[in-house]
Amino acid sequence: MSIEATCTQSPNSLGRRTFFQWLTYGLSAVASVVLGGPLFGYFLGARPRAVHWVPLDDVDKFPLNETRLKSFDNPLRQPWDGITALTGVYVRNLGVDEQGIVQFLVLAVNCAHLGCPVSWFPQSGLFMCPCHGGVYHVNGDRASGPPPRGLFHCVWRVRQGRLEVQAPHYPTLQDTLVSGEV
Ligand code: FES
Repeated sequence: MSIEATCTQSPNSLGRRTFFQWLTYGLSAVASVVLGGPLFGYFLGARPRAVHWVPLDDVDKFPLNETRLKSFDNPLRQPWDGITALTGVYVRNLGVDEQGIVQFLVLAVNCAHLGCPVSWFPQSGLFMCPCHGGVYHVNGDRASGPPPRGLFHCVWRVRQGRLEVQAPHYPTLQDTLVSGEV
């Protein structure tokens, strides 16, 4: 005796299956566009980043060869950034160059390891990171610890006697702060 399985489907169930099949295709396509667009733009560097200049202070408020922390609310903030949008830079007045122009060293506060804010210790002339012990020299160069490089340099300019800095995004090894449009 043979057992024969017969499977019959009503036109109704076929229609429902087709509908869900197309619904799945449609939702997959929408998800691909929503998730793939930004990813594609990120990897190709196609997404233009807005350039904002943040006024810090008058040039003469930065004493020669002293490092000062200047904090500000980052205009590149996202609504969900909260307190982390309050960022800052370390500014050092390097003095006047041969052309009579005041030069500055402007460093991001983010450690080049995992981004913790570093602290400046004038007594030792070093920046130190509280997270994993990264240490940097006064000029931002790496001194010791896990950071793979020195502190990130920020783009700055002087306008009408006031020092301005290009609002820093979160710096990474691939996307430093000096690669932005000036
Ligand atoms: S985040 Fe600074 S040493 Fe790790």
